[in-house]
Amino acid sequence: METKTKYIAVVALSLDGKIAPEQNADSNWTSSEDKTFLHSILDKCDLIIVGRKTYEIAEKPLSKRKCIVLSGKSFGFEFKNENLTYCNPTEDLKGYIKEKKYHSVVILGGAQTYTYCLENKMIDEIFITIEPLTFGTGLPLFDQQKPKMVKWLLLSSKQLNPAGALLLHYQRID
Ligand SMILES: NC(=O)c1ccc[n+]([C@@H]2O[C@H](COP(=O)([O-])OP(=O)(O)OC[C@H]3O[C@@H](n4cnc5c(N)ncnc54)[C@H](OP(=O)(O)O)[C@@H]3O)[C@@H](O)[C@H]2O)c1
Repeated sequence: METKTKYIAVVALSLDGKIAPEQNADSNWTSSEDKTFLHSILDKCDLIIVGRKTYEIAEKPLSKRKCIVLSGKSFGFEFKNENLTYCNPTEDLKGYIKEKKYHSVVILGGAQTYTYCLENKMIDEIFITIEPLTFGTGLPLFDQQKPKMVKWLLLSSKQLNPAGALLLHYQRID
């Protein structure tokens, strides 16, 4: 029997709904508890989909994991080494993942990559850690040039630390 690939997005969000205080900022604002959760989910997945900008920010830790990096400058699929493949977003990435029989795929972001995956029905579930801080500005989770209503069902919620970081787990329902 064929097993369906599960696409899981993992996001850290500020209280005012941003994934980063500015373009190309790193993730030094997320809690150690969120980082522990992130590493545990990355350890369990077969493949990570990540945007070229986020990959370059976190290249050292990500180079040890199997990644597909989205880049509009890539010529189709470019195999760099056993862990790293670049993919042009115009390619049939979903078909490629099905052919390779990856079962559990984590979408690591950033905003352009979450948006691409949402549009291509490549987010079945989403884990969002809400960190108790506000930026007042910053990068939204999804590209606001492409509005689209999607409905989600809460599967679980958990407080990660005394400061009040919340881990929410949702499933797409449409
Ligand atoms: N809080 C969180 O959970 C979280 C998670 C991940 C990242 N981030 C943050 O997000 C920021 C980066 O996000 P970002 O949206 O600027 O960049 P990104 O999604 O990491 O990477 C964007 C790049 O990926 C390629 N790409 C992705 N989707 C594409 C599409 N549909 N069409 C064409 N090219 C596409 C392009 O590469 P080329 O330019 O090579 O064509 C584009 O410039 C960083 O600050 C990072 O720290 C936060």
